[in-house]
Formats: sequence, structure tokens, C-alpha cells
Amino acid sequence: MATVTFENVTKRFGDVIAVDDLNLDIRDAEFMVLVGPSGCGKTTSLRMIAGLEEITSGTMRIGERIINDIPPKDRDIAMVFQSYALYPHMTIRDNLAFGLKLRHVPKVQIEARVKEAAAILDLTRYIDRKPRELSGGQRQRVALGRAIVREPAVFLMDEPLSNLDAKLRVETRANILRLHQRLNTTFVYVTHDQIEAMTMGSRIAVMNEGRLQQVGTPQELYDRPINRFVAGFIGSPAMNFISVEVGGSGDGITLTAPNVTIPIPPQFRESIGGPGRTLIAGYRPEHLVLGPLGGSTAVVNAKAEVVEYLGNEELIHASCADRDIVAIVDSAYRVRPGDMLELRVPLEKIQLFDPDTNFALSFGAVIA
Ligand SMILES: Nc1ncnc2c1ncn2[C@@H]1O[C@H](COP(=O)(O)OP(=O)(O)OP(=O)(O)O)[C@@H](O)[C@H]1O
Ligand SMILES: [Mg+2]
Repeated sequence: MATVTFENVTKRFGDVIAVDDLNLDIRDAEFMVLVGPSGCGKTTSLRMIAGLEEITSGTMRIGERIINDIPPKDRDIAMVFQSYALYPHMTIRDNLAFGLKLRHVPKVQIEARVKEAAAILDLTRYIDRKPRELSGGQRQRVALGRAIVREPAVFLMDEPLSNLDAKLRVETRANILRLHQRLNTTFVYVTHDQIEAMTMGSRIAVMNEGRLQQVGTPQELYDRPINRFVAGFIGSPAMNFISVEVGGSGDGITLTAPNVTIPIPPQFRESIGGPGRTLIAGYRPEHLVLGPLGGSTAVVNAKAEVVEYLGNEELIHASCADRDIVAIVDSAYRVRPGDMLELRVPLEKIQLFDPDTNFALSFGAVIA
């Protein structure tokens, strides 16, 4: 069983805490994505699985086996890095076979595995070429192939697509997912790109400043972010946030900010607190609607400033009482700069956060 478990794992480099008390269970055969901004500890976490970085404290397991002191070569993992550094003077066949030769795998087996990896990655017709005779995407596939021939229990990938252009990235993304389905092996994939994380992960672990923030399926993170960091990091363009004040009473309880009104059913009063309390409300650009919307809605009045026409949609940068907000609406509206907009948000799409702790109030999910 190729589960990977971090148990209270911490990594320090001198005074820097790169990874702080990480607890994470990666399931057998799942595609786990570690995502977060630069410097949050993704690569360090991956390198600790690989054994390329010693852990400062805690316990690392692959399956039931504690691997804290197991050298990299005995961990049954293969790692694909951002820079794929193929051997330029060797053919693709030899590049694929090289690691196995070093491990003294019998020649017949090497040939069989190289042939299969080349077929899986659609490299068979290039097998006698040198790396310089391949495109960037093809070279990246060779790098994946070098990992596949090892037949590891766990694949580790550190931003393997970042050297590719946008189109190739999308193609290779799909290739890697196909590979995962076909091999049915545990993948741990590092990226700083939340779109890559959302499209690829069976589950996603969001990190910030060395700390794990939340683990969940893409939809769980999108619908129920645990705190303001995850809410702002997942989703593109990012969620809009405003500071709102609890006002009114009984049936008329509302959250308000200049040009924004969010009516709240009285039964949620308790989680929201008393009049005068300040909360942070969050709403995603794609949940803002122009024009009529049934049911109870939040209303945001804003002035359009810049309109980006995207074909089927328009991305609107607007100002709402001196705050910038972003909305994505149907392009049929043909909004123009200077237009006064009355935007609505279904109440169940509003997220609320405690301004002191930045944690979500459970309200957003419950109201639906
Ligand atoms: N060998 C090292 N010596 C000292 N500090 C290090 C070392 N490696 C990493 N760090 C620090 O540990 C923290 C986490 O680094 P890490 O490389 O894991 O980040 P990352 O999430 O992979 O970032 P990026 O997206 O930029 O690759 C950073 O503050 C980094 O400066
Ligand atoms: Mg990194």
C-alpha cells in the first residue's frame, strides 16, 4: 500500500521553519496536489518524502513503514523535477534506460519497460532521437518516462509543467492525469498554480508559510474554504472581500457596508453575533449577477470602471464605495465603463469570516 503519511513533521533550516508540524494522510493511488504561494514549503515537503531532505522532527511513513532514516534509493519513489535535464548525448531510449542500468536491472526487463513507457507517453517514434531533436513537451514526456520505468510506489512531481508554454501545459496536464489513471499509483504533485491544482487534484492540500491550511477535494475547497487564505487563494479571479457590520434586529437583521446590503435570516443571528460586530464577507466574482435574481439576495451597488470582454462573459472591474471589486457577468449585458450596476449575490454563496481569527463562520454552507 503506497499511502504517504506526515505525522507532526517539521523541517527547519537554521531559523527558518520551512514546514511547521505537518499532518497529512495521502491515500493509496490518489492524486494529491500540494499548492500554495512561493516559499510556503511545498518543495521541502516533497523532498522529505523523497528522502532528499532530512526531517527535523516528526514521523514520515510510506505505507506502514517509517522512512525517517531510509535512504532515497530504498524508498520506492520516483521524482520528476521542473527542469528535466535529459542527457543530451544519449538517445531517448538510453535516457529512459539509464536509471535502470545503474540499478542493474536485467537487460530484457529494461527493454520491455522502456518500450512500454514510450508507448504510454507516445514517444515510440522518437525513441532513437536525441533530446535536442524533440519539442519541450516531448522532452517533458521523456522526463515522465524516466520516472515510469522505475515502476515506483509513489510518483513525486515538483512543478513539472512550469517550463512549458500555456497550450503545452494544458496538454501535458491531461497526459499526466491519463498516466495516473493508467498506472493507478499514488501521485504527489506540487504546484503554485491554483488552476493546475483544481483541475488535477483528487484532493488538494493548501499550504501557507509552512503550515497546512486545509485538505479537501477541489469542490470542498471552493465551496467551503476553512479560512480567508484558502478562500482568496482558490478560485480565479480571487474572491472579493469586504468588511461588514451586523445591524438591525429580529427579521430585519442585516450585514451592511457602504453600498452593500446582506439580509440574514434571524436563525443565523447567533453565529453572526450582536449588532455592531464586524465580520468579513466574501463573494466570488462569478457569483455576482446583473439583473433580477429570485430568492433572498445580497445587493452590491458598484460603478463599472474597466470591462474585459471575454466572448461569452465580461470581466468587470468596478468600484463599490472606494473598494475595488471584480465581477464576471454574461456578456449579453455589454456593460460600459461608468455604468452604475446593481449586482446581486445569492445568499448561499456568501462566505463569512471572523476578522480576528480569519476562520470561516459555518454560516455560508448552512444557509443553503
Ligand atoms: N536549503 C535551504 N536552506 C535554507 N532555507 C531553505 C532551504 N530550502 C528551502 N528553504 C526555505 O524554506 C522555505 C520553503 O521553501 P520551499 O522550497 O519548500 O518553498 P516552495 O513552496 O517550494 O516555494 P516555490 O513555489 O517558490 O518553489 C522558504 O522560506 C525557503 O527559503
Ligand atoms: Mg518549490
